[in-house]
Amino acid sequence: MTSLHLPSIGMPKDELLDALKRARTRDVNWREGRAFSLVFQAGEDVYEVAKEAYAMYFSENALNPGAFPSLRRFEAEVVAMTAALLGGDEQAVGNMTSGGTESILLAMFAAREWARANHPEIDAPEVVMPVTGHPAFEKAAHYFGLKIVHTPVSADFRADVEAMRAAITPNTVLLVGSAPSYPQGVIDPIADIASLARERGLLCHVDACVGGLMLPFARKLGYPIPDFDFRVPGVTSISADLHKYGYTAKGASVLLYRNKALRRHQIFAYTEWPGGIYASAGLLGTRPGGAVASAWAVMQYLGEEGYLAIADDVMQTARAIREGVERIEGLRILGNPDISVMAIASDELDIYQVGDEMTVRGWHLDRQQYPASLHLTVHRGHKHVVERFLADLAASAAQVRKPTPRRLATDIALAASRFIMRALPEGWVSRLVDGVSARMGGGGLPKRSAAMYGMMGALPNRGDLRELVIDLVESFTEPPPS
Ligand SMILES: Cc1ncc(COP(=O)(O)O)c(C=O)c1O
Repeated sequence: MTSLHLPSIGMPKDELLDALKRARTRDVNWREGRAFSLVFQAGEDVYEVAKEAYAMYFSENALNPGAFPSLRRFEAEVVAMTAALLGGDEQAVGNMTSGGTESILLAMFAAREWARANHPEIDAPEVVMPVTGHPAFEKAAHYFGLKIVHTPVSADFRADVEAMRAAITPNTVLLVGSAPSYPQGVIDPIADIASLARERGLLCHVDACVGGLMLPFARKLGYPIPDFDFRVPGVTSISADLHKYGYTAKGASVLLYRNKALRRHQIFAYTEWPGGIYASAGLLGTRPGGAVASAWAVMQYLGEEGYLAIADDVMQTARAIREGVERIEGLRILGNPDISVMAIASDELDIYQVGDEMTVRGWHLDRQQYPASLHLTVHRGHKHVVERFLADLAASAAQVRKPTPRRLATDIALAASRFIMRALPEGWVSRLVDGVSARMGGGGLPKRSAAMYGMMGALPNRGDLRELVIDLVESFTEPPPS
């Protein structure tokens, strides 16, 4: 821990706001469309609505809907509007949560409780999920004592339903599909997964955290979007994030169930507390009223017409980027993404080095693995940067193609480290990589990380990598190196 104390006297507001502005200078420049994950832009007007609504409800607490009937109404309406978009009938119910992860944690918890009530013979419940499912499911399994049985995906990165069928055991309680999955932006064959779930009497969750507020509009615009929601018999729950393609303030997702009986397993109530009877539907206690109000406001502000116009822009921008990437020698898009989420890979170049070159040019692209690729979630804010992005990407690829002394050194270091790591005893590997990542600017995200990713890919023991990553998360509670 650093020896930092609360200032003995407060800072004047102007100075403080200045300090905040200055602190931002090294953050990713999302306002200029430089981030391809983490932030979703729809336009300055939408941003203002989201922000003002949030600020208006800044202090309100959605923990107690009795105290804030306005928030109760907003939440009910947000849930109803989302359910209607996702094919829910009058039986469908749901809640707002703080984000995709909370929605998924709750869906997994409810599945476990459903199994306890309906299948008491199962004492080690299992969930069958393609490897491309979001880590929030792994987190839920970790927290709630569920086991995830991972299944491979097909060559097009969509879930292999036959593999899922083969993975079902007498302990299986839930099948999971994504619409779309984050790594390659493809929609799993939800109809087949849900039909399999029905046939076996299992629950089926669709992770539409990314697609929930995008796919319905893309379909209306004429894009070939397969059924993925409650229109598919057998789908029992859906998560759909509002703070992604819904463009609301962060801290907003919706978790829907096909009916009330399913949702009941999620709700917590404790009646013996001296502080009163306590009950809540989600994981949180206090819930920011701002997130609820902002979601309601943005949905009202945009309406179907607004969302369609944005989706149109996003889909066209994504297509322009996709086609542009395919034209760059040595680069390709993985699979055939269904919407505006995609991954850039290469059969000839080290794609992580291409990523590094893009970082140096000011772009933020997440590094992915299995296969190595760069992630792109395209939003409306990218509409005006397509040409610049593609020019920088082409320049980055060309740069990586050139044998420079730095590249040569990286390649040699990588080859040597692979050799050494195979020969080192366990524990030593962690220390070695730790040292290297620290030297490369550890603690924060280094500008050039290809060598680190390359080394991590070569680790003989993934347990070492897990320990390293946990060390890294611990380091995030310290200030980044200046
Ligand atoms: C497919 C998918 N599911 C779930 C999540 C988790 O959402 P959140 O980060 O809001 O918790 C994400 C986040 O990117 C995602 O892409």
